Amino acid sequence: MFATSDLSKLPKPELYRELASQISALVQDETDPVANMANCAAVLFHSIPRLNWVGFYLLKGGELVLGPFQGRPACVRIAFGRGVVGTAAEKRTVIRVANVNEFPGHIACDIASKSEVVVPLVSEDSHLLGVLDVDSPELDRFDAEDEAGLRAIGKIIAAKL
Ligand code: SME
Repeated sequence: MFATSDLSKLPKPELYRELASQISALVQDETDPVANMANCAAVLFHSIPRLNWVGFYLLKGGELVLGPFQGRPACVRIAFGRGVVGTAAEKRTVIRVANVNEFPGHIACDIASKSEVVVPLVSEDSHLLGVLDVDSPELDRFDAEDEAGLRAIGKIIAAKL
């Protein structure tokens, strides 16, 4: 059984250290990628304050296809290079958007989303696997500490895909 404690009061670096350690422990003995992504999305969604969507898009047949997530139903297929998700995938770089309405080509899957971070997931042999997408209903919700924390979690999960 996995019990979640209230981590929302922790300073961000500690919060993300704790989440990285919880997620590492959860995925350690499991090889199924869907199960590991599902648990990762659940831990992040329920532990990071002020989010409305957390999930994965996986590179399949040249496009990004919805994977395990928490939040409202989302767009299923996103073209490589389109939206925040497709752009982060194409550029293989983390994209942090303070106001999604100002991001050219932003894809509004959930109109509640106001700011967003997308972290590319890359295999040890440098293949793009997909992205981790984290959305907030608040403008400018994510700072460099969130980005660093999510990047570290992206590495943990990418190693299990
Ligand atoms: N807003 C994203 C699409 C995915 S959803 O936010 C879940 C984008 O512009 O790529």
